[in-house]
Amino acid sequence: MAGGGGPAFGPSALGTRPHWDAAYERELRFFQDTGDAGEIWFGEESMVRIIRWLEKQQVPHDSSVLDIGTGNGVLLMELAKTGYTNLTGIDYSPSAIKLSEKVREKEGMSNIKLQVEDFLAPSAELSGFQICIDKGTFDAISLNPDNAAGKREQYVRSLRNVLKPGGFFLITSCNWTKEELLDEFREGFEILEELPTPKFCFGGRVGNSVTALVFQREK
Ligand SMILES: C[S@@+](CC[C@H](N)C(=O)[O-])C[C@H]1O[C@@H](n2cnc3c(N)ncnc32)[C@H](O)[C@@H]1O
Repeated sequence: MAGGGGPAFGPSALGTRPHWDAAYERELRFFQDTGDAGEIWFGEESMVRIIRWLEKQQVPHDSSVLDIGTGNGVLLMELAKTGYTNLTGIDYSPSAIKLSEKVREKEGMSNIKLQVEDFLAPSAELSGFQICIDKGTFDAISLNPDNAAGKREQYVRSLRNVLKPGGFFLITSCNWTKEELLDEFREGFEILEELPTPKFCFGGRVGNSVTALVFQREK
């Protein structure tokens, strides 16, 4: 989205932990009342797209998978239903992790690991993953009102630390174009594939509202 230097979106509350804490507190109450896990960012199709790619590549079902900023954890539940057995979700919002734990309990998937972690300051044990997935978390971090550019750089450093050489990184974003993401992840990552996403037409120009890319960590 950026044209000539900076991003075309400004800082927002969506880039802060209090926003997500309050949002997931609400979703937790909603879940307790209705059993509904709440918002699936970028819709069901975004999960199908990721799972389809993993299956097409015949990624072994025991590969270690990290969902960065897992929110309600629904993507992990879908991965487990597909057969993946080594799943971890992290989120810096304790209320998101509380919600994902409730969803995990309802789905009877106690082998999914869930933990409160800030991806910008990951613990040492968070390492050696074969697959990392991000659906909307890099976007949220990019909206932080306090030094978003520095936080994006820290994100890339964290990713280099937690993802094994040769491992795959699947990112879905609505704030960044393919070219911008290639630039953000240029150090240590190679683009493997752009996953098709729905196109929209506005003012005679056709574009994608969501970008989904697969990177490979350099070997
Ligand atoms: C747009 S939501 C997406 C949630 C989930 N990935 C999904 O697709 O439904 C962004 C998520 O990133 C989490 N998040 C933001 N910054 C984070 C950070 N530094 N470390 C870990 N999680 C973070 C938020 O708490 C929130 O759950």
